Amino acid sequence: MTPLDAATHADPYAYYAGLRRADGLHFDADLGMWLASRAQTVEAVLAHPECRVRPLHEPVPCAIAQGAAGQVFARLMRMNEGAAHRCPRAVIEPALAALNARHVADAVTQLSAGMGGLDEWMFRLPVSVVAHLLGVPDEQLHNTAALTRDFVACLSPLSNEKQLRNADFAASQLQQMFSGVLEETVLFARIRNTRWEDARAVNPNLIGLLSQTCEATAGLIGNTLVMLARRPELVERVQRTPTLATALVAEVARYDSPVQNTRRFVAARCTVGGRIVEAGDTILVVLAAANRDPDANPDPDDFQLERLQRRVFSFGSGNHQCPGQALALNLAAQAILEVLRRQPSVLASVANFGYWPSLNGRIPRFDAVP
Ligand code: HEM
Repeated sequence: MTPLDAATHADPYAYYAGLRRADGLHFDADLGMWLASRAQTVEAVLAHPECRVRPLHEPVPCAIAQGAAGQVFARLMRMNEGAAHRCPRAVIEPALAALNARHVADAVTQLSAGMGGLDEWMFRLPVSVVAHLLGVPDEQLHNTAALTRDFVACLSPLSNEKQLRNADFAASQLQQMFSGVLEETVLFARIRNTRWEDARAVNPNLIGLLSQTCEATAGLIGNTLVMLARRPELVERVQRTPTLATALVAEVARYDSPVQNTRRFVAARCTVGGRIVEAGDTILVVLAAANRDPDANPDPDDFQLERLQRRVFSFGSGNHQCPGQALALNLAAQAILEVLRRQPSVLASVANFGYWPSLNGRIPRFDAVP
């Protein structure tokens, strides 16, 4: 196994335990990358100012640099450091934090009507909820979710030519949508009406909210359904006490993360995780391995709803830590409650599944198995 195919392996956790046994940062000569897998090392890399989200020589991946998808990518706070990261973050983080949990729950209920196929619903619902909170009119939500999925494909090194072309089309459509007249919502007003240092960064970062939501939240919902199918006693507990749904998705996020790894690119020679790394080096930060580090979470291989002081690395840490964590957990918890209310029988069809191809996302695909 490699740390890249581990993301979609049936059970990568014994392999990750082996990675953690290696000291601090460890060089994988086959992949040509450093690996960080212990909680302490993962935190150190994500906090280090010379470990950047993009390689210095390639701020936008060459494959998309010339098109509309590249123009959006170039302004995403997720893909920038310095002012181009700080300024959007200063607006977006408090706007997401101020979201009302009840509004999110109501949106999940409203938009789950006519659920349809599980795979399609898992991807469509989270993006539709965030788009709805951003003021996208109801009749455009379906298309917005489809366009977001097309745009997200360009972020994966596995995408083919056709997917890259579709991502360009989707990026221009989404840009147009956010430039048009949208319904005034609290979230939209908070983001739009704040003074932006670079007004050209507003729309790309609204698209960024949709694209960051898309696969990760689908993965969290899917991995929670898998857990419920494997442990029917959890279904009973959550049905009896629905408030446990948030603890359920939080523990799934730790135990079987939808985002298994992220990357950092070294900008200048420095020491991190007890090793000297050179400018140009790549570090694979194995978040899912850190989640199971016994130094961060006692008895890490036990799935515990009531885990005290749960430490979850799935949302990153440091400057780029996910500002959508609370929203994602709330959204996924409400989505799971909808399944249990509307169609608990789907859990029977969840036992057999594969994963969508990915080098870092762990997203179950339920229709893949006959
Ligand atoms: C289960 C769902 C989610 C997971 C596991 C997740 C995970 C992550 C991770 C690991 C990062 C940091 C990546 C890195 O540092 O390399 C991140 C960043 C980010 N996430 Fe999430 N995310 C989720 C949902 C969301 C949602 C719902 C939103 C917003 C509506 C969101 C918005 C963002 C943004 C804007 C960033 C970039 C932050 C920055 O660069 O400062 N995420 N997310």
